[in-house]
Amino acid sequence: MEKLQPYFESNKQRFLDELFDLLRIPSVSADPKFKDDVLRTAEFVKAQLIAAGAENVVLEQTKGYPVVYGDKIIDPKLPTVLVYGHYDVQPADPYDLWHSPPFEPVVKDGNIYARGSADDKGQMYMHVKAFEMMLKNNSLPCNVKFMIEGEEEVGSENLETYVKAHIQKLKSDVVLISDTSIIANDTPSITTGLRGLAYLEVEVTGPNKDLHSGVYGGGVANPINTLCDMISSLHDADRKINIPGFYDDVEIVSDSERAEMAKAPFSLEDYKKDLGLDDVLGEKGYSTTERVSIRPTLDVNGIWGGYIGQGAKTVLPSKAYAKISMRLVPNQSSEKITKLFEDHFKSIAPKYVKVKVTNLHGGEAAVTPTDTIAYKAASRAMEKTFGKAPIPQRTGGSIPIVTMFERVLNTKSVLFGFGLDSDSIHSPNEHYGVFNYYKGIETIPYFFQYFAEMSK
Ligand code: BES
Ligand code: MN
Ligand code: MN
Repeated sequence: MEKLQPYFESNKQRFLDELFDLLRIPSVSADPKFKDDVLRTAEFVKAQLIAAGAENVVLEQTKGYPVVYGDKIIDPKLPTVLVYGHYDVQPADPYDLWHSPPFEPVVKDGNIYARGSADDKGQMYMHVKAFEMMLKNNSLPCNVKFMIEGEEEVGSENLETYVKAHIQKLKSDVVLISDTSIIANDTPSITTGLRGLAYLEVEVTGPNKDLHSGVYGGGVANPINTLCDMISSLHDADRKINIPGFYDDVEIVSDSERAEMAKAPFSLEDYKKDLGLDDVLGEKGYSTTERVSIRPTLDVNGIWGGYIGQGAKTVLPSKAYAKISMRLVPNQSSEKITKLFEDHFKSIAPKYVKVKVTNLHGGEAAVTPTDTIAYKAASRAMEKTFGKAPIPQRTGGSIPIVTMFERVLNTKSVLFGFGLDSDSIHSPNEHYGVFNYYKGIETIPYFFQYFAEMSK
């Protein structure tokens, strides 16, 4: 793949310009206000796949946003790589914390600042450009299929139906996904595990209307106070989750695997410094790396109720709300955990409030194998371009479709991400290194080469 170098050098500025065009479209799947923009992004990706040389490029309609599909089958006897990515992004809120507008990409200090730069437009687009390079230089060594969806950030609700209806069309030997991180730019890694997710919203109702907090305060329960009490009871002093049965199915990671994990470079001091913290907090008996990868968690993602406008309003609210997520590990079922949470939360509700629990979305944890041709090809590819073999590492984020692909397509994934945990994905000032973008474009063709060679 050395022979792609001249093409890469003479086109790399355009590769960046095109990504900027993609980043300018605010494809926020969570907010219906951006519907036209999300659809425009799907059209943009479609046009870019066609321009890169893909065939059979179509927008596959779903009940939600379309899936962009395209392929290049050079020989049905050769192995096939299914590239998955997502063109939707998280909301950019709060806008006032961005140093430059989230949908006006800029390069500053070697980083591309924009919502979606790392998650996942920048990483997804590396594949389109790597594919273009291979095709334009007559060096595509195997078949490629692209499946780029627009609902990942809202739980990929319609993807399973789409995949089930197109099992033959999506048939492949591996799913290749760049939507995760490496340890550092001089320490490549390949993600081998993702956590699952159970996401719920709770509503706690006290009195049947908002009340004057002086006239009624002290006489009836304030549902915000009660919600806070209930939430704080969900962890014990060791930061274990206090829901009966919660840990029943948790995968026990062996001591030898934990020892192996502990070898990966990690500095708690740098971690705290990066986050402006004097100390960390987590489950007793586990390291920070373990707490954010092999252990399940429960977190409040948002909490509201009462008066949050300007100034003071003396009110005893009728309702309080919270969004609660639980990150899950292998063997835990998101459906079972959702039920355990709901039953428990209702059981701890005092008589003076009413509780409603709504399930928002969920997904299962994944462990991807390292003893496959695809993993080895990915590892060799990174070793080639980084000059160092990548470290297999589990991460705390979730990509629920990984287990869905295993279940429905019977195909394993390789999590071939090039981002950094410090890219501020889902946060203000999300960024993606220009280094990482180009490194991905240069590395992906080696994956294809080694995968084709090793599959023979
Ligand atoms: N790309 C992320 C997941 C991720 C990020 C994995 C960093 C590993 C490292 C993905 O877009 C994401 O944000 N997933 C959601 C879950 C989804 C169901 C909304 C998540 O993890 O919160
Ligand atoms: Mn993502
Ligand atoms: Mn995301």
